[in-house]
Amino acid sequence: MKHLVVTGGLGMLGSNLVNASFSRFDSITVIDSNIRGMKDYAINLWGENKYDLIEEDVREISKDNVDKLLSKHGDIYFVHLADVVAGIGYVFNNQFSILEENTSIDIAAFKLSKMIDASKVLYASTACVFNQASQRSLDAKVSISKDLFPANPESTYGWAKLFGELALFNLYDEADNVGVIYFHNLIGTPCDFWSERSQMLPSIVNRLLSLPDDEPKVLTVWGSGKQGRALVPVQLAVESILNTLSLEKIQKRNQVGPEFCTSIREVAEILLSKTDGKYVLDFDLTKPEGDIGRSVAAGESRLVAKITMDDIRQVIGDVYLWVKERKV
Ligand SMILES: NC(=O)c1ccc[n+]([C@@H]2O[C@H](COP(=O)([O-])OP(=O)(O)OC[C@H]3O[C@@H](n4cnc5c(N)ncnc54)[C@H](O)[C@@H]3O)[C@@H](O)[C@H]2O)c1
Repeated sequence: MKHLVVTGGLGMLGSNLVNASFSRFDSITVIDSNIRGMKDYAINLWGENKYDLIEEDVREISKDNVDKLLSKHGDIYFVHLADVVAGIGYVFNNQFSILEENTSIDIAAFKLSKMIDASKVLYASTACVFNQASQRSLDAKVSISKDLFPANPESTYGWAKLFGELALFNLYDEADNVGVIYFHNLIGTPCDFWSERSQMLPSIVNRLLSLPDDEPKVLTVWGSGKQGRALVPVQLAVESILNTLSLEKIQKRNQVGPEFCTSIREVAEILLSKTDGKYVLDFDLTKPEGDIGRSVAAGESRLVAKITMDDIRQVIGDVYLWVKERKV
């Protein structure tokens, strides 16, 4: 019997992972406190499929629910995705709470995985862990062997993820059934477009759809627009997790993303090409833009097929339409 346990399973990545896993596992348990507020979207996506939802903070799982997990026979595949995830504005303004929350969430999650004797543990980390000195131009490539240590991530979000992997590797004594994937910036649906923690793409889409009717409409983008990110369609991130879980031995450190950046200006222009009407782009240089750019060093994104600009354009369009249908 194969059981999947996903922390953060109501989130953007988690809900898609669960959705792709129904035919591959004998049971699925989602642990999510729903702080992101995505429960309805996730449940809608999963339809009539069977899953157990533990709607609790992973740091405070009730004994009954731990007992239910302990009663499972067979192999437990534990994928840890729960964390406080946000755009750079929120991260820069909440550095202490991000560090406090995410390190405590990660430690609790890994202890739980150990307590329920998980056969494999996979931890979703981020490209924000890479040394900020390696991210100073649009064509900067980050490499696991060169740009991770000595560590100097730009924010506590990246530092917390590094502490998370330290916790994981020490708890499991560097075993080959545990690993980390550094995901570059995920794009897809369902996504939070309404809160102060919403990320770059849904927040630009939300701003675009909130503009008053007069023309020309002015879409304001944070920073110079020249900063860029290696964008990863969420379905490919899901594929990389499933591919990793199917391996007999898990490679300790992995990264997933394209070998090129898409600038924020390009993202805005792709979005505008989906709309009618006249728009002008405005760049707000008073707002933070974060690392200038980073994408994956050649050959390091081995868990999925090459990500193309067409994949990215398609998902940006999908996110635009998805938010448009839901925004009241
Ligand atoms: N979105 C990205 O661009 C991106 C990029 C790299 C890595 N990641 C990582 O992938 C993972 C999933 O990201 P996502 O985009 O799906 O984020 P998300 O915010 O959509 O999902 C995270 C989920 O975790 C839940 N959660 C938060 N704190 C919790 C707690 N204490 N207990 C239980 N549940 C809790 C939230 O309710 C949410 O549903 C995260 O660990 C994130 O750091 C995301």
